[in-house]
Amino acid sequence: MLPSPHILVTGGAGYIGSHTVLVLLQSGFDVTVIDNLSNSSDESLSRVARLAGKSPRFVKADIRERGQLSAVFAERPVSAVIHFAGLKAVGESVRVPLRYYDNNVVGTLRLCEAMAEHGVFTLVFSSSATVYGDPATVPISEDQPLGTPTNPYGRSKLMIEQLLTDLAASDARWKVALLRYFNPVGAHESGLIGEDPNGIPNNLLPYIAQVAGGKLRELSVWGNDYPTPDGTGVRDYIHVVDLAEGHLCALNALQTRPGVGIWNLGTGRGYSVFDMLQAFEAASGKTIPYRLAPRRSGDIAMCFADPSRAERELGWRASRGLQAMMEDTWRWQSRNPNGYRSSTAG
Ligand code: NAD
Ligand code: WQD
Repeated sequence: MLPSPHILVTGGAGYIGSHTVLVLLQSGFDVTVIDNLSNSSDESLSRVARLAGKSPRFVKADIRERGQLSAVFAERPVSAVIHFAGLKAVGESVRVPLRYYDNNVVGTLRLCEAMAEHGVFTLVFSSSATVYGDPATVPISEDQPLGTPTNPYGRSKLMIEQLLTDLAASDARWKVALLRYFNPVGAHESGLIGEDPNGIPNNLLPYIAQVAGGKLRELSVWGNDYPTPDGTGVRDYIHVVDLAEGHLCALNALQTRPGVGIWNLGTGRGYSVFDMLQAFEAASGKTIPYRLAPRRSGDIAMCFADPSRAERELGWRASRGLQAMMEDTWRWQSRNPNGYRSSTAG
């Protein structure tokens, strides 16, 4: 019998990474995770192992450390890399930009060097709709000209896309997927794995969930004077398990597709802040107190995907709707009020 393909997942202990590791294990892949746990806990991987009935291999290391990275590749042949490792807090990236360029851009550069040294040329990268900046029109297709991301985090994603495109142009062995995620939300339906933000959440849904759970007092709705149907910002929220499945489809597509492929991973539907609030109240049975507040700097009015290329070329489309996103978020939040530091999920 042939050995199972072995996938190296950087940042695999994190939010999207842990859901993707689960999908990979359930699909018969062997998985090694490399993560420095700077924004996660290896408890996520213990729970993934419980759900999958088998464990990923875990190496606690930083992707910028050449020696550690090289040792991982040398130990066992790697078929492909899915690269989630990176910092993602927009506000922090404005305060400490070098940390973001170092971790995200230099980290990716080191990873690519190690891959090439060990003859591994297949890479799936976590990019973001942030590379479109403030889009001229919606829905956004991959052909739309790239915008100007409004912060260093976003610019680090754009730089990495350019770095990977240059690399693939220089050597035909590279097969690269640039996956532009829209707004990932939700949790695995088991309630065992989910998003565990450090401190006060920056993103809408984790914030709402913590208000519902009584950890935060009220939601601030940042701006109700946008040119949108109800005046609040509109985004394309995508269930994290749909997103995780998109990585598997991208891996499959790369088998027969050299060069760089760019795919939006979104649902194609936009929801406003008030839509999200109401849907969460319905799913949780809780009332979410809120107040209207001024616009948040750097925010845009409206952003949602044209996901048709991913459907055509990857055979992928999001199947989980708003209700599942809300119910799964609430199950995760209510069973794990302190994230992976909780012990009630058992
Ligand atoms: P996350 O913070 O939960 O996961 C990232 C993981 O990478 C964490 O476990 C962290 O400990 C690890 N990590 C960070 N720097 C590392 C390094 N130098 N070496 C080893 N490990 C390192 O974030 P997430 O939401 O799961 O996001 C995963 C990827 O998707 C990131 O690259 C992020 O920029 C991108 N992305 C996220 C969103 C989102 O809204 N969550 C949207 C678009 C793109
Ligand atoms: C969604 C909507 C807010 C919080 C960010 C990054 C982006 C990407 C995903 C990685 C907006 C409103 C929010 C709150 C609110 N990450 N809001 N009160 O801004 O679309 O995207 O995360 O690549 O790069 O910028 O997501 O969840 O922060 O905001 O009213 O307390 O909710 O104004 O309209 P965003 P978000």
